[in-house]
Amino acid sequence: MTTEFDMSGKVAMVTGASSGFGVHFAKIMAARGAKVVVAARRVERLEALVAEIKADGGEALAVPMDVTDSASIIAAFDLAEAAFGTVTMLANNAGVADVRSALKIGEDDWDKMIDTNLKGVWIAGQQAAKRMIEAGVSGSIVNTASILGLRVAFGQASYSASKAAVIQLTKSMALEWAGKGVRVNALCPGYFLTEMTAAAFDSPEAQAYLNSSPAGRPGGMDEMTAPFLLLASDAGSYLHGVALPVDGGQSIGRM
Ligand SMILES: NC(=O)c1ccc[n+]([C@@H]2O[C@H](COP(=O)([O-])OP(=O)(O)OC[C@H]3O[C@@H](n4cnc5c(N)ncnc54)[C@H](OP(=O)(O)O)[C@@H]3O)[C@@H](O)[C@H]2O)c1
Repeated sequence: MTTEFDMSGKVAMVTGASSGFGVHFAKIMAARGAKVVVAARRVERLEALVAEIKADGGEALAVPMDVTDSASIIAAFDLAEAAFGTVTMLANNAGVADVRSALKIGEDDWDKMIDTNLKGVWIAGQQAAKRMIEAGVSGSIVNTASILGLRVAFGQASYSASKAAVIQLTKSMALEWAGKGVRVNALCPGYFLTEMTAAAFDSPEAQAYLNSSPAGRPGGMDEMTAPFLLLASDAGSYLHGVALPVDGGQSIGRM
């Protein structure tokens, strides 16, 4: 298994690496030999993560990135390339949530959601693929979608729409880039405890909802390790355009 998920020789960029899934993705790839570039807006957190990875014997670099700003994405790829060479793995993971109902979402809220969760994934994915193709190297992109891209839940209209679009974007990118050596897949997580979901873990009602998956509980971060590495590493060399639910069966149960 360790050999299958080997990441040595890869240059991996993780967006949204200042908390939650992004921290986990960066650590598990660094531990398997990848040179890891961690990107987000809260740079002080990225620096702390880089220090942790280096203390564990890994190689890492922090780069500032706001995924709603294309110039910032391009600058981050330039910094990554100057330090480690062409990025060959992109964890396209930055995202925001919004629990307003469809009647209450404002135009600015809508734009922020789509700019971050969808346009950011497109621009970062385009940069990664373009640079790999120009350099003549192959690689992998993993977009973090959601089970709310597959199903809907009350009060999640803009988020669900953004994540459904990420799944279709994933399939389109996979179709167009498979022949150029770039695999593109998506993860569709159910409920995991991160800063994004912390408030939803607070009340007994929310707990009951979170425990309503067929598995009867939210996911543990370690349970994302193998699904992510399967898509990210060469172990998934024949996987293209997959939208993989990692959700304790939530997407086939009650929402
Ligand atoms: N947790 C879950 O149960 C769950 C379920 C399904 C899908 N997801 C998805 O998983 C991904 C990661 O979320 P998480 O749960 O780990 O939540 P989180 O801990 O809140 O992490 C979100 C990350 O996105 C970054 N981010 C937000 N806006 C950004 C921007 N404009 N530019 C750059 N980075 C930005 C944040 O960094 P900065 O604020 O420092 O920029 C942070 O690192 C998201 O796409 C989310 O939709 C989560």
